[in-house]
Amino acid sequence: MDNRMIHFYFLALLFSPCCVAPVSETFTVSVKSPVSVQRGHTAILPCWLTSSQNAEDMEVRWYQGSDEYDTPALLYKEKAFDYSSQKASFAGRVSFGLKEETSGGLQAGDVSLKLEKATIEDIGTYTCYVSSSVAYSSASVSLTVTETGRSPLLSAVMKDDNKVNLSCQSDGWYPKPELSWSDNKTALTPANVMFSRISAGFYSVHSWVLVSSPSEVSCSVGLSNEEPKEARMRLENPSSLQEESGSSAGWVAFGTLLVFMLAAFGALYFLYYRKKGNKSGNDTTDGANLTNIPEENEPLLSKARQPAALLEASNHYGNFTFI
Ligand SMILES: *[C@@H]1O[C@H](CO)[C@@H](O)[C@H](O)[C@H]1NC(C)=O
Ligand SMILES: *[C@@H]1O[C@H](CO)[C@@H](O)[C@H](O)[C@H]1NC(C)=O
Repeated sequence: MDNRMIHFYFLALLFSPCCVAPVSETFTVSVKSPVSVQRGHTAILPCWLTSSQNAEDMEVRWYQGSDEYDTPALLYKEKAFDYSSQKASFAGRVSFGLKEETSGGLQAGDVSLKLEKATIEDIGTYTCYVSSSVAYSSASVSLTVTETGRSPLLSAVMKDDNKVNLSCQSDGWYPKPELSWSDNKTALTPANVMFSRISAGFYSVHSWVLVSSPSEVSCSVGLSNEEPKEARMRLENPSSLQEESGSSAGWVAFGTLLVFMLAAFGALYFLYYRKKGNKSGNDTTDGANLTNIPEENEPLLSKARQPAALLEASNHYGNFTFI
């Protein structure tokens, strides 16, 4: 009999509210911040009860900023989600997530927010607010949404002083990307970097460098924690551009010579037929056609210095190679 009584008291002591209650009365939440997610992807905002106690009977409220308590992104109370006051922009995109795969979820105090299809508008801080009937605790997590832009485009324009002006352009980034140039794998000092922002909130970046020696130039654009996007171009021999101008000048000289020769022939022809007493009207138009030849050559020369004609020029002379 005595033994049984002792056993009973022991059990009563073990399960009595006096010894369990103090643990659940107060608690604190922990968070991991900041969180970064690519636009359109799913973000997990980690928040958990530091003591890992069961949160199933608690109220969990996630809201944007510090003043949107009444229009939460997610509200869980009385063991169910309450969508009645949910901020419209979060409808259908939020639920509880796991801070890590083995966290054990709500039962183990993990109240992390899972936010799907992240948008640029989701950027900001979020408050994780957990309350029981007797206590509450909160902490905030900041969320950044990034957008990977398009691969950079390189274009080259020949300059007069044996240099090539290389331009790099890339659009559709958030936040501002970093741009870097390299020459034969050696970093070039970034200069002339310009950003612009279009209506949708994304950034475009543009930069140019002058290159004068043969090299493999690359332009890469990227966000700090992602693989950058790169465009490369091999400049075989920018200084041979002078030779190109030389060869073009050669063509002009050749054309001019041709004109003189044809003019000479024309003159002989004219003289020959005038001697024979024939009409000379046709011959004067021939002469006019001949003088047009050098004029046709001129635009060829100036076009080669314009960007639009560059690819054509590069194919012709093999100075640029897009890699
Ligand atoms: C190089 O080209 C860019 C346009 O892509 C232009 O803004 C810049 O002034 C040019 N630089 C030189 C030195 O010509
Ligand atoms: C880059 O390398 C090529 C050959 O590998 C060399 O001819 C050229 O001078 C180098 N250019 C620069 C700017 O270092």
